[in-house]
Amino acid sequence: MGETKNGEKTRVLVVGATGYLGKRIVRACLAEGHETYVLQRPEIGFDIEKVQLLLSFKKLGARLVEASFSDHQSLVSAVKLVDVVVSAMSGVHFRSHNILVQLKLLEAIKEAGNVKRFLPSEFGMDPPRMGHALPPGRETFDQKMEVRHAIEAAGLPYTYVVGACFAAYMAGNLSQMKNLLPPKKKAYIYGDGNVKAKIITPSKEKLYSSECGYYLAVRFE
Ligand SMILES: NC(=O)c1ccc[n+]([C@@H]2O[C@H](COP(=O)([O-])OP(=O)(O)OC[C@H]3O[C@@H](n4cnc5c(N)ncnc54)[C@H](OP(=O)(O)O)[C@@H]3O)[C@@H](O)[C@H]2O)c1
Repeated sequence: MGETKNGEKTRVLVVGATGYLGKRIVRACLAEGHETYVLQRPEIGFDIEKVQLLLSFKKLGARLVEASFSDHQSLVSAVKLVDVVVSAMSGVHFRSHNILVQLKLLEAIKEAGNVKRFLPSEFGMDPPRMGHALPPGRETFDQKMEVRHAIEAAGLPYTYVVGACFAAYMAGNLSQMKNLLPPKKKAYIYGDGNVKAKIITPSKEKLYSSECGYYLAVRFE
């Protein structure tokens, strides 16, 4: 597992590693046997939760690589270490939302010239099929499309992981859009009440059996 055709270990850099999804991706990469590098941003400063997470990754065998999105050369040096870059940059419009920051990462990948595959932060609905989405949520899809266009224009090999809605965001709240907790007074029913939805659980184990995990579990070649 985690090897290229030549029997060498695949080197993977995870960006956004301390995030909701990123931490699961780091653990999945390590479990798969990939040589796993984790981007450590100096901007996290005294965020003790992030520091502790990074140290826990190190304990599991990941290598921490210091780089900042404000320092292009540091990003170039980081991506030069690996074959595959997986980004789990924040992209939930009502929480942290920085999808376009990835354009800086893309510039670094282009300059480094060694990355064999880039997986941008997607992990949700398929943006080209979300043209009917309403604001403010559609901003995420529009920005993910902008990143896709930039990747494709650069001619880089890529994988877009298109899953579905995460259960944590969509199940407990009965898919009400304004709260993650179950509604107490009123719940909206969409369409005629028979609309089907596909929901996944991005836990480490489920990641492998879900549509999303299938892609994360394949060998990065
Ligand atoms: N399908 C669904 O239902 C669903 C639900 C949630 C998310 N998603 C998708 O999953 C992806 C990841 O979302 P998430 O919720 O896991 O993200 P998140 O936890 O909000 O943030 C992920 C990481 O983004 C990095 N980040 C945030 N602001 C930054 C900035 N200004 N500069 C550089 N890095 C920054 C941080 O990385 P550091 O570790 O470097 O600090 C952070 O830990 C997104 O594409 C999102 O749309 C899908």
